[in-house]
Amino acid sequence: MYFKQFLHDSTGCASYFIASRRSREAVVVDPQHDVQPYVELAADRDYSIRHVIDTHIHADHVSGNRRLAQLAGAELWLPAKADVAFAYQALNEDDQLQVGQIRLRVLQTPGHRPEAICLLVTNLERSSEPALVLSGDTLFVGDVGRPDFGGPHGAADQYRSTRRLLALPDWVEVFPAHFEGACGRSMCGRPSSTIGFERRFNPMLQHEESEFVQLVTEPTPRPLNMIAVVATNRGVADYGSLRPNGTSRVDSVAADWAPKWIAERQACVLDVREPWEFGAGHIQHAVCMPQADLAIELQCFDRERSLLVVCESGFRSARAAAFLKSRGFNRIANLSGGMLAWRRAGNRVLT
Ligand SMILES: [Fe+2]
Repeated sequence: MYFKQFLHDSTGCASYFIASRRSREAVVVDPQHDVQPYVELAADRDYSIRHVIDTHIHADHVSGNRRLAQLAGAELWLPAKADVAFAYQALNEDDQLQVGQIRLRVLQTPGHRPEAICLLVTNLERSSEPALVLSGDTLFVGDVGRPDFGGPHGAADQYRSTRRLLALPDWVEVFPAHFEGACGRSMCGRPSSTIGFERRFNPMLQHEESEFVQLVTEPTPRPLNMIAVVATNRGVADYGSLRPNGTSRVDSVAADWAPKWIAERQACVLDVREPWEFGAGHIQHAVCMPQADLAIELQCFDRERSLLVVCESGFRSARAAAFLKSRGFNRIANLSGGMLAWRRAGNRVLT
């Protein structure tokens, strides 16, 4: 068996390349938009990518699934319930894919999204027992995936799906589709774990169903460019990679200096938080534009005007500002420390 976990720092996502050293066949799970690393790995190690799988329709990055399948001449697999506008092979509960001596078995785990699946991986050369689970956005290290939609119903599904994973043996290793990012709230940051450790120490798995449902139904900010990302991943639009490029360094403005910075430039303040956060306190004349909508609303903003991008802590706004800079907004800065710092500096807040 050959196993490689790719960690993608810009999105907090993980993707996987699993191959049989005997048959030289490989499967790639949850590929990122840039598929070159998987193609190069296959060429370097003389593997042939036979299968490409997404565990669900991603909302935080554009999948490379179709391009990788086409480039490699591989089968494209998605959960049977995936609502997309292109052809794919459907994965149902208990379906199995064989990659040499490696077996991937599908577990339907609705919750994060209705179509979400996990993949139980068995290396038959070692044992007929499963060795690891690719837990998608169902189970994270130290957290669980938030329902993208579906409210309490999605949360109750997620409770049942996580319980299902906890019924696996202790030794089964957990490899999630995220190690950080907006899909959870308190991921540990470690890229893998075991079922036994998570059953005992994952704080979200210590709750009864009603508490769990209440906690995961609390609103969380939606990911950067989510509307455009989902449309692209469903094949109903094509917004490209939607990633800021690596050279998009953005200036920071400190909160105590920010009022002067705004006034001198007659800058537009772009608040990328959700409306419920904006309503609780914002900068005068700020525009509420949640980061999820940015890519589909670019035409609303003047590239010649100075822009100060704001969120709650300065983290979301830094990524949003980098994305805008990569799309030609050069007079852009990030409010360092966000509204938390703005309030601490004693600046005026409107509700
Ligand atoms: Fe997700």
